[in-house]
Amino acid sequence: MSQIQEVKEASDIVEIIGSRISLQRAGSYMRGLCPFHGEKSPSFFVDESLQRYKCFGCGESGDVLTFLEKYDGMTFAEALEELANRAGITLQKFTKTTDDLHREKILEVLSLAKQYYHYLLTDHKVGAVAREYLKNRNVTNESIKIFQMGYALTSWDGLINFLHKKKKYDLNLLIDAGLIIKGKTGRYYDRFRSRIIFPLNDHRGRTVGFSGRVIDGDEKDAKYINSPETVLYHKSKMLFGFSELYQEIRKAKEVVVVEGEFDVISSTQAHMNSVVAIKGSALTAEHAKLLKRTVDKVLLSLDTDDAGVQATKKAITALKETNLELRAVVIPDGKDPDELIKSDPKKWRDAVKASIPAHEFLIKASLMQHDKTKPEGKRAIMKELSPLFAQIEHAVELEHYVKLLASELGVKPESVKEDVDNYKNKEAFGKISKEKSAQEKSSQEKESEARENNAPTIDPREKLEKYILFLLFHSDKTKILRKVESLTHVSFLLSGANFVLKELVNFSGLFDLKSFAAKLPEDIQVKLFDIYSDQILLKGLDSLDIDKEWLTLVKKLKTIIVKDELLKITKELRELDDKLEKTDEETERQNILLKKIVKLRN
Ligand code: CTP
Ligand code: MN
Repeated sequence: MSQIQEVKEASDIVEIIGSRISLQRAGSYMRGLCPFHGEKSPSFFVDESLQRYKCFGCGESGDVLTFLEKYDGMTFAEALEELANRAGITLQKFTKTTDDLHREKILEVLSLAKQYYHYLLTDHKVGAVAREYLKNRNVTNESIKIFQMGYALTSWDGLINFLHKKKKYDLNLLIDAGLIIKGKTGRYYDRFRSRIIFPLNDHRGRTVGFSGRVIDGDEKDAKYINSPETVLYHKSKMLFGFSELYQEIRKAKEVVVVEGEFDVISSTQAHMNSVVAIKGSALTAEHAKLLKRTVDKVLLSLDTDDAGVQATKKAITALKETNLELRAVVIPDGKDPDELIKSDPKKWRDAVKASIPAHEFLIKASLMQHDKTKPEGKRAIMKELSPLFAQIEHAVELEHYVKLLASELGVKPESVKEDVDNYKNKEAFGKISKEKSAQEKSSQEKESEARENNAPTIDPREKLEKYILFLLFHSDKTKILRKVESLTHVSFLLSGANFVLKELVNFSGLFDLKSFAAKLPEDIQVKLFDIYSDQILLKGLDSLDIDKEWLTLVKKLKTIIVKDELLKITKELRELDDKLEKTDEETERQNILLKKIVKLRN
């Protein structure tokens, strides 16, 4: 018998489900209201003999393990572990390592610490100051209970006395749990002192850390301090409120993400129960991984200021690998949800109801920052939003936002689309030169390698050179010859390019492409025409500051050339070095090369 079967046989599905939702006997079945869809008359059946459940309303069905996965949000392994623990079965796969045992010990002291802080807040006379503070912030006793909030004494060793002196836990264990700190003098003291305590729980409800807020009038310290990163506490995964509010979140299929513990608590008191707080301002891919098992939508609550815009952009990236829909809840006048709720709870519920797609939020924010009636404002908006639009994979969705923005700017949607396409093309170019500089091999080395392999290769440096020539010939007539001067010591790899540049240097008078081209040999004319009329590059031209782009790319090319040159010289020098006997010419050559290196490095 497999261990999975063993665990399932040792568990009773009626007991497990019955402890979570209410079930009544109906003949040979147990029956209740389905927890997976809203219903008024029960169509959810649990079959004791088959140890399975099924809902005849929504079709959900499974065994005790799938129930825990779906209802408690556990992974399969977690559900198995949970049931095995209940039944006292040791899973072979999970034979405990010393690391596991250490983790368990940490969980144990964290749980005791939670109880200790909670007791001080709710039952001890020293907690009066904290109770008063929470009362003033409108935190109800019910919230204190749901979130198991606590209070840490003003003393330096309240927790040490309890967990070490009284309960005999090792001081190193308390350090590993993030609960105490060893000072420079070797003295140990409590990390959390004179603070309101919020237990930070993982998605299974196990306390893995704490956050503590100073009580007002006591603010020489940081407003909040948090557990450090430990084997169990990871800031980037933490979603405050997730386990406490899991059932509400699961039912809502969407969750509002806020920034502070008090925002979560106030939100639930305002009857908005599907809410979590991140620690810090970034929603991470790890958060997304956790949330995607439970919800379809994430509503990020933000201010329209720059921090909110940056956070939204990051969140879009973090959610990219999931199917989660990202929306923004916008709160006016820089308030946080807690403050808004204090002024009027309904305003918070309304703000959540009025959430908008993240992309729309970013469009609005950009329109507020720039003057859309002016051409330079329009350009700034396109510059800011093009990278965002370029990321949208679905054509229909993209078209939606393109139209939205076009109508705001009073331009044709085609123009917006064109700018986005141009951005994509330019980005492709940028990537090529980045890849190039990331490569160890010089272009010469690659070229010879390609020749040996008989394979034609499009050298990234040549692409860059082509783009530079393209920019040159599309520059203002009066600037072309001066631009050529800045290329005096630059030698191109692109065939025909050096010839064209030499002809340009010799050109006198006001530049005119037609008469210039007419004098070139025919094969060069063809090449020049190909570059000049490159369709992809032409698309990018309208929205481009040619002179600025020119400077950037010439600088880029010069860097690449210097690098290539250095590699070539180093190689030759190494060969010379390897020679035991050198001729006079070779010694002379060596000196020249060394001088060249010094010059190039400068
Ligand atoms: N935070 C933190 N460390 C700090 C400051 C803030 O960990 N030094 C976290 C807390 O979780 C805090 C959140 O960031 O709740 C948002 O910070 P802030 O807006 O400054 O505080 P509020 O949530 O408004 O806190 P309060 O309402 O208690 O003043
Ligand atoms: Mn606040």
